[in-house]
Amino acid sequence: MKPLLKLTDVNSYYGKIHALNNINIEIYEGEIVALLGSNGAGKSTTLKTISSIIRPKSGQIEWNGKNIVGVPPHKIVESGIIHIPEGRRIFSGLTIIENLELGAFTFRKDKKWIKEGIERSFDLFPRLKERSKQLAGTLSGGEQQMLAISRGLMGNPKLLMLDEPSMGLAPIIVQEIMRIIKEINEQGTTILLIEQNAKAALRLANRGYLIEIGNIVMHDSAEVLREDDKIIKAYLGA
Ligand SMILES: Nc1ncnc2c1ncn2[C@@H]1O[C@H](COP(=O)(O)OP(=O)(O)OP(=O)(O)O)[C@@H](O)[C@H]1O
Ligand SMILES: [Mg+2]
Repeated sequence: MKPLLKLTDVNSYYGKIHALNNINIEIYEGEIVALLGSNGAGKSTTLKTISSIIRPKSGQIEWNGKNIVGVPPHKIVESGIIHIPEGRRIFSGLTIIENLELGAFTFRKDKKWIKEGIERSFDLFPRLKERSKQLAGTLSGGEQQMLAISRGLMGNPKLLMLDEPSMGLAPIIVQEIMRIIKEINEQGTTILLIEQNAKAALRLANRGYLIEIGNIVMHDSAEVLREDDKIIKAYLGA
């Protein structure tokens, strides 16, 4: 089987800072892949590079077998790669419904898709339904994360990339978000998940990559990573 997404020897920079050093990652259809690593390791940069917010200096990014380096970000979104960035970035002055409509930007002429998408979001997150006309800025952190995920789904992703969805949330909300990520995956969306909460991520994921100062230093099945001494010491807090 060919990978859905394949990064080969990808190098990304911020000016002179070499943020990604010959990164190799493969993601297969239907997987949940966790990207683990400490602060500043290059996790968000990896997602930004995949979604073309940053153009790598060298290397290849193949999506469905085609090199997508240099393709503009909106075309990446249209092709089915959707990135939910760190810190959620919802439109706080707009209502939940308005945020969801904007998430369906590539389907803006398809009123039926928008309507059904909003219903799907509300099935997934009943809390959003109860608050559909509330301004997004007044939602709790967990609700904002739910909205960010729902908004991403409105773009019909084949690959959904989530950058620390559990950041700053209470354990019970983290559990709920993780359960929903699993459900989204079971409905057919491939997931690339960045998490500082390695325990939660490795419970959910099929495989994981560990990134340290711009280098992938380990990749394996989630079972193997859960038992790995280095991962346990540095990331599972034992
Ligand atoms: N806009 C930027 N300009 C310059 N350097 C940057 C920029 N964004 C990130 N960096 C640097 O690139 C490196 C990787 O950053 P990145 O945001 O990818 O880390 P991360 O693994 O997502 O960390 P965190 O867990 O804190 O979110 C860091 O050294 C960071 O300081
Ligand atoms: Mg980050």
